[in-house]
Amino acid sequence: MTDNTTVSFSSADLKEADLGLRFKMPMYGNHATGFVIRYQGKVYAYVNQCAHVPVELDWQQGEFFTATKDYLICATHGAHYEPNTGECVMGPCKGKQLKPMQVEEKGQKITVDLQSAAQYFA
Ligand code: FES
Repeated sequence: MTDNTTVSFSSADLKEADLGLRFKMPMYGNHATGFVIRYQGKVYAYVNQCAHVPVELDWQQGEFFTATKDYLICATHGAHYEPNTGECVMGPCKGKQLKPMQVEEKGQKITVDLQSAAQYFA
């Protein structure tokens, strides 16, 4: 279910350190997307934009994790991000941050608050 301010997914569709779920954020532009991943059991949502150059992180749609499943990686120049904080720990934007969004998981449903990204697009 999607309304203007949130986007929801079924918990069963988001597996541990596996494919992320992408979503559109039309209120911030035609190409604005975000994604949600599960890491160590918890869900995290970020704007799908590298901290180095503003391109999407995933080369293959939904592929955000490294092969070893311990970092998120940008497909363009290989920046590595901590999945739980969004901090870039390796690569050209080391020390910078992905833009986190508010997300909660309740009753087998994951809900992302799209308005929590408004500050990044102001
Ligand atoms: S654009 Fe992501 S590492 Fe360069």
